[in-house]
Amino acid sequence: MQVNLSSWWTIGSVEIPTRVVLAPMAGVSVQAFRRQGRRFGAGLVCSEMVSCAGLEHRNERTLGYLRIAVDEHPLAVQIFGSDPETMAEAARMVEAAGADLVDINFGCPVKKVTKTGAGATLLEDPPRAAAIVEAVATAVAVPVTVKMRRGLENGSRACLDLGRRLVAAGAASVTLHPRSAKQMYTGEADHSLTAELVELVDVPVVASGDVTSRARAQAVLATTGAAAVMVGRAAQGNPWALREIVGESAAEPSREEIVAELLLFVRETVRELGERRATSFLKKFYGWYLGRGRFPRAFKQELTQLETIGEVEERLLAAAPGAAFVLARLEQEHASVDDVELELPISIYGGG
Ligand SMILES: Cc1cc2nc3c(=O)[nH]c(=O)nc-3n(C[C@H](O)[C@H](O)[C@H](O)COP(=O)(O)O)c2cc1C
Repeated sequence: MQVNLSSWWTIGSVEIPTRVVLAPMAGVSVQAFRRQGRRFGAGLVCSEMVSCAGLEHRNERTLGYLRIAVDEHPLAVQIFGSDPETMAEAARMVEAAGADLVDINFGCPVKKVTKTGAGATLLEDPPRAAAIVEAVATAVAVPVTVKMRRGLENGSRACLDLGRRLVAAGAASVTLHPRSAKQMYTGEADHSLTAELVELVDVPVVASGDVTSRARAQAVLATTGAAAVMVGRAAQGNPWALREIVGESAAEPSREEIVAELLLFVRETVRELGERRATSFLKKFYGWYLGRGRFPRAFKQELTQLETIGEVEERLLAAAPGAAFVLARLEQEHASVDDVELELPISIYGGG
């Protein structure tokens, strides 16, 4: 049976227009990435994981993750932590900032996170994981979702029992990336586990891992019964992958289109992070956008050596002068929403 990737589905009361979800990725999923993802067909976008301790301490950089634009909805903001009450408080702030869903991270394998008892560590601590979901689901009116790996160790099936318990505790959807924490990103995502999870829970399951094309997305949906696929690495510097997966167009972008999208991304990111932070943050994106045989390797390297964003813009426009027209159109489309909702609500800054 073939699933229509551009059809609606729901998580609780939240309506999601396509079955393609843009993955939360730390160091990647800034607002510009999420807005672009929505424009290219993702039905749901996610923030990167936000520390509940950072929110608790009103850390300014952490609060910046709660900046939401009107054209991002529906949007999930993902939080991580290990203390149910702190997570509940963080969830309230996420809801107040305007997120449609609060997502909880039970999958991050990075030591900095796991050593605090958060992320993937909770895969092996079902009572605490369930207590977190219950506390968060009680604290907010928006649906609460969870994202897991298969378990800590290779071959683990911990996600199956845990998934069931988290749904009983109040999770309205479960995303599974069926690799172990130990695997990091090696090997393959074993979506036979996703199919098993779908049988066990009565909420929508989202399949994450190695979805890189429309054919792969359709195969994963057909063989697992998942409600949607999540796309991560394939969309880095490549929003056109989302367009292909959702079924809108498989056309390769022109050089002008690529440069215009990159420039819009650069400008939005500078506004979001400030020029100093954006300059280093953006370097990896040059390779992602201009790679895949689209531009010569030397050109990508040259961009990463430049010291100012102004120089980067100049070099990009020199390489594809027609991009200026495409960019002007994109900026005009964006302008109408830019003025509306880019600032944080005062109440969040006020710490109330
Ligand atoms: C750079 C990077 C950062 C990530 N950060 C997060 C994160 O903050 N929260 C999360 O739940 N998953 C995170 N992930 C995992 C992805 O959401 C996704 O589950 C994983 O990459 C598998 O999907 P893919 O094969 O489509 O990339 C990250 C992955 C990458 C590559």
